[in-house]
Amino acid sequence: MTTISKLQINYLDRIVGITEGPQFSWVIDTPFRNCQQKQYQIQIADEPSFASPLFDTGLVESSNSAQIRIPGFTPDEGILYWARVKAVTEADGQGISTTPFSGSATILGGLKDPDSLKEHFITAETEEDIKLSKGTYLRKAISLKKEVKSAVIFSTAQGVYQLHLDGKKVSCDELAPGWTSYDHRLLYQSYDVTNMLSPGEHVLGVHLGSLWYKGTISFLMIHNFYGDYASLSLRMDVTYTDGSKETFYTDESWKGSYSPVLNSQLYDGEAYDASLEQEGWDNPEFNDDAWRTAKAVPCTSEHIEAQEGSPVALQEIMAPTLAFYTPKGERVIDFGQNMSALPEIRGQGKAGETIVLRCFEVLDKDGNVYTDNLRRAEQRITYTIKDDKPFVYRPHFTFFGFRFIHVESFPGRADLDNFKAYVIHSDMPQTGSFACSNPDLNQLQHNILWGLKSNFVDVPTDCPQRDERLGWTGDAQIFCQTASYNVNTYTFFKKWLKDLALDQTQEGGVPHVVPDVLYKYPFDNWLLNQGTHSATAWADAAIINPWVLYLTFGDTAILETQYESMKGWIDFMKTHAKNNIWNYKLQFGDWVALDAEEGSYFGATPNDLTCTAYYAYSTSLFVKIARILGKEAVAKEYEALYNNIVKTFQETFFNPDGTMTAQTQTAHILALHFNLAPKQFIAKTVENLKQLLAEHDGHLVTGFVGTPYFCHALSSNGCLDEAYALLLKDDFPSWLYQVKKGATTIWEHWDGIKPDGSMWSPDMNSFNHYAYGAIGEWLYRVVAGLNIDENEPGYKHTVIAPRIGGNLTWVEAAYQSVYGEVGIRWERESKSNVITLQATVPANTTATIRLLDGASLVDGDALTFAQRDDILEAEAGSGMYTIRYTLNS
Ligand code: BGC
Repeated sequence: MTTISKLQINYLDRIVGITEGPQFSWVIDTPFRNCQQKQYQIQIADEPSFASPLFDTGLVESSNSAQIRIPGFTPDEGILYWARVKAVTEADGQGISTTPFSGSATILGGLKDPDSLKEHFITAETEEDIKLSKGTYLRKAISLKKEVKSAVIFSTAQGVYQLHLDGKKVSCDELAPGWTSYDHRLLYQSYDVTNMLSPGEHVLGVHLGSLWYKGTISFLMIHNFYGDYASLSLRMDVTYTDGSKETFYTDESWKGSYSPVLNSQLYDGEAYDASLEQEGWDNPEFNDDAWRTAKAVPCTSEHIEAQEGSPVALQEIMAPTLAFYTPKGERVIDFGQNMSALPEIRGQGKAGETIVLRCFEVLDKDGNVYTDNLRRAEQRITYTIKDDKPFVYRPHFTFFGFRFIHVESFPGRADLDNFKAYVIHSDMPQTGSFACSNPDLNQLQHNILWGLKSNFVDVPTDCPQRDERLGWTGDAQIFCQTASYNVNTYTFFKKWLKDLALDQTQEGGVPHVVPDVLYKYPFDNWLLNQGTHSATAWADAAIINPWVLYLTFGDTAILETQYESMKGWIDFMKTHAKNNIWNYKLQFGDWVALDAEEGSYFGATPNDLTCTAYYAYSTSLFVKIARILGKEAVAKEYEALYNNIVKTFQETFFNPDGTMTAQTQTAHILALHFNLAPKQFIAKTVENLKQLLAEHDGHLVTGFVGTPYFCHALSSNGCLDEAYALLLKDDFPSWLYQVKKGATTIWEHWDGIKPDGSMWSPDMNSFNHYAYGAIGEWLYRVVAGLNIDENEPGYKHTVIAPRIGGNLTWVEAAYQSVYGEVGIRWERESKSNVITLQATVPANTTATIRLLDGASLVDGDALTFAQRDDILEAEAGSGMYTIRYTLNS
């Protein structure tokens, strides 16, 4: 039977806070091949039975099952909607059939005037608390006289907060409202609390902390970057069954107090004195006479906007795997996995005893605790015990990047059952999976995924442990495509890209970090003196990330939203380019490449070359984007610019004999991957790249700029074997070297831990930096062969084109697209050249199945393959196919 297995709204199962008509997409499930949608019908109701829908599209003739909008539907403030869909399809063997209605997805309408929340901020802090980062409580007792039909809370904080109602947490969100470019905008959360309310007494209780808003931030250790008071603004709308309504706001009738959190900071961790706990503070029975009156404070953001989805939330709970003493006698708990998490401690001791823990990533050469690479981040928990009863504690307003806990002090001997780790990250369902016959590659994929989880904590960060944890644009750009294979990135990056646009300079320059916490402080600092924006490959996130979202979801809305930002960035480069060579102030170049001079982080590839290569690449994407948006005149203008940049690049960075002016791997990779090498010199460029590889015995010496494209530059230019050889190297430096050294996430440096066990300098040595994990894209696209078709993006048409190699005997990858699962499995029959390829093409989509590398067909499973040079190609409708072919080698 054909059914609809998933309905999504703006690519999520559940969406909140929206005020504009959303986009609907759904997955059609069918065992029949060549299934195509003919019609659909969407219904929207304000109750789950759909007894009398508010909107009913009726049957609409359409083959589209993604990005569907309903004319006339805009969600009303605070109303919870249910939506469902059914479709009429036609498929082989089933003919025309109608699906039942899908399960429902929900929409909670947001505030019509979110800025009204600006007037309602209150704090329990006093002037003495401005420079501190204590926890505070706010509470308000309310009385409801009538039966409640529905109740919704819209709330946000300057700082971070946990919302309680009658002693219960209202959601499993962590670190709400998340981190945005607070000067410009702050996000509010929307919570449906209907089921928590009945006639009688209730208490709204909120626990507040400082974190990004007023706690210490950036390696400059700035306090109060955005403001002085941790504060809350909340509105609760209650609708009674008799139709009447009541609205409650935060105001100076609320009461406030300090909480047991003495200090809670992004980098330093949390100090908590349990003897200051106030039993039942968030319950109606509690007497708050001793509490002070809350004070109104101004809102420091220009605007308040809705958080639509992907909140940071608790995702999984990890148990430790080992407790041991180091050679130095330190007590250590090992979770076996590097991650971003909140440790939970259980124990029992005596009043006044203190537990002190430090979270860290790696052991040193001798197996002792190593914390130097945390730089100034303490990552410490200090917990003071209140009595002799058992206790459980988890920090509130921070998170830690760690695999190990060093137990500096504990009542008795700390053991495995005293600890757990609550893994937190932005809520982004996993969409991709990759596995193969090589366990080291599987561990690499695992490390990529955990690097992603650890660094997608509301903002795409460089690392989660040291005194940084910032939204470095380069890291987010490099990793975006790999991330988008692995998890649903839409809402997460949409939010971040909006902040990127807001933080751009007037001229269109793009900050090194978003939210930009560097620009305000022109301290005597090498980075700040030289500029805090517009570094090539970093700033290009403005173009590349929206482009990747467009490809992944087929969504033009993101291109429209980001259009001015994208154009601003291209124009910035144009303004500052001299005769088409673009370069500007501080550049990171091929960051942390191994061909850097001793002691330097800047790779050997000249900035003029990397900058101009990216200038060309981003401009080429912008031309495509302008065309997609129907801006033909703009497309033509920038196409001419693009052609000029390419011409200049070729004249400047290629010698007349076809060699490149820069003899670095990265220079050659960029020229090849960005199509910048003159046609007549492509073969020579490939040969020279191979030569540069051979000079290092087949190893890469590339940094952030060259590494992501190295294997592509080889495999797209007739060097598949070399690409596999590079991927599979497992001695230093290589991706698998880290794996062999026991990595569970991706390292910042190829030589984070050197072959002799010593460490790279502690001033820049993260063991959880996802940038080099960008190789993940090659695993999905080339090893498995799962390719998006630019002309029909969002997997409306997929190109399945595995490249068999690397002595792998099987590979399996799947991606949960907006249309459903695209799946590939290939297997080499034992010791033969026969490949069995299984491909899954989702309903209402099509695929090209491309057999490369000299394939000849054994069994095409009813598909018609045509020969083109040494490629066999067939067009497939939806369904599952098993194809057998032989390779000529
Ligand atoms: C970060 C990087 C970042 C870089 C800029 C570092 O401190 O950790 O990942 O992109 O600075 O070069």
